[in-house]
Amino acid sequence: MTSILVLNGPNLNRLGSREPDVYGSTTFPELVTELEGSSQGSETIVVRQTNSESELIEWLHEAVDTGSHVVLNPAAFTHYSYALRDAAALVSKAGLSLVEVHISNPHAREEFRHTSVISGVATGVIAGFGIDSYRLALAAIRSRL
Ligand code: DQA
Repeated sequence: MTSILVLNGPNLNRLGSREPDVYGSTTFPELVTELEGSSQGSETIVVRQTNSESELIEWLHEAVDTGSHVVLNPAAFTHYSYALRDAAALVSKAGLSLVEVHISNPHAREEFRHTSVISGVATGVIAGFGIDSYRLALAAIRSRL
């Protein structure tokens, strides 16, 4: 059985009302329903969001312990959290896929968003396709199984 955790960092619970010109109009509960409902066969998809760096790190540890692949939108932690990077590295070192996703294209935005401290330990990165970035990340994980 394939288990996939879709983990989201700070402020993504505000999807739908937060800068809709950048992040679109889909709300976080709608995203959860759509992604969890898109599981194929015996695959399980669990979507979570937290504003806490430590909780996100603990969820990455949980992914290692349960053998779960990860779709990770680290949100602003992308740009500076070495602690999150170290936890993400544990996932890929365990032979599990970790796909970094962004709804927007950070490279087309402010300069501080051009740096990701996560990308170097991710299996791959998908950015700029709105919430399709998550669907593409799930497809990428499936194609690597
Ligand atoms: C984001 C991009 C980040 O720069 C930003 O801090 C976010 C969302 C995205 O999904 O486009 O919170 O990760």
